Amino acid sequence: SAYQVGYFVGSLSSTSINRTLSKALIALAPDDLEFTELPIGNLPLYSPDYDDDYPPEAQALKDTLASCDAVLFITPEYNRSIPGALKNAIDWASRPWGQNSFDHMPAAVIGASIGQIGTAVAQQSLRGVLTFCNARQMTAPEAYIYFKPEVYTDSGEVTDEDTAAFLRDFMAEFRTHVERVLTVLPRH
Ligand code: FNR
Repeated sequence: SAYQVGYFVGSLSSTSINRTLSKALIALAPDDLEFTELPIGNLPLYSPDYDDDYPPEAQALKDTLASCDAVLFITPEYNRSIPGALKNAIDWASRPWGQNSFDHMPAAVIGASIGQIGTAVAQQSLRGVLTFCNARQMTAPEAYIYFKPEVYTDSGEVTDEDTAAFLRDFMAEFRTHVERVLTVLPRH
C-alpha cells in the first residue's frame, strides 16, 4: 500500500519557485507516494493560549499530520533562516505539549533559491528545529536547489534531464528512508 506524505511549501508567494519545485518533486516521485499539502497561510500566529482549544485550521494541520506516514519540507531561505510562516506552522504542529505531531516521523527537507547558496543555511536551521521535534530526518542526499527558471514549466515539468534525474533520485531515496523508518517505528 502507498505511503501518505504530507508536504509543507514554506512560501506564501503566488509566484513561488518552491511551489514549482514541489510540483516537480511530486511528478518525479515513486508511484507509491501519495501527497497531501499541509497549508500554512491560513494559520494564526501560535500562542500557548490556544493549547486547550486549537482553532480549526490548526486542528486540521494536526489531524492531517496524524494521518500521514511522512513529511516533506520544500522551503525558501529567508534572511538565512526559514520563513516565519513555516516556523509558525511547525510550532503549531509541535504542540500542545506531549502531542508533538512530528515525534518519530520520517522527514526530508529540500528548498530552492534564486541565489547559488540554494537554501543551505535555511535547511540547516530547519534541521535543528526538526531535531528538537524528534523527527526522523533523511540526512543524505542533501538537495540545495539553485533555481533556474528555464528548467521548469509552471506546472512543474522539468525540462533538463540532469535536474530531473537528481530530483527523481532524491524522491526515490526519500521513499527508501520512509520505508526504513516505518519498519522500526510503525505509525498506524
Ligand atoms: C529572500 N531571498 C533569499 N535567498 C537566499 O538565497 N537567501 C536568503 O537569505 C534570502 N532571504 C530572503 C528574504 C526575504 C524576506 C525574501 C522575500 C527573499 C530570495 C529568495 O530566494 C527568493 O525570493 C525566492 O524566490 C523565494 O522562494 P519562493 O517564495 O519563490 O518559493
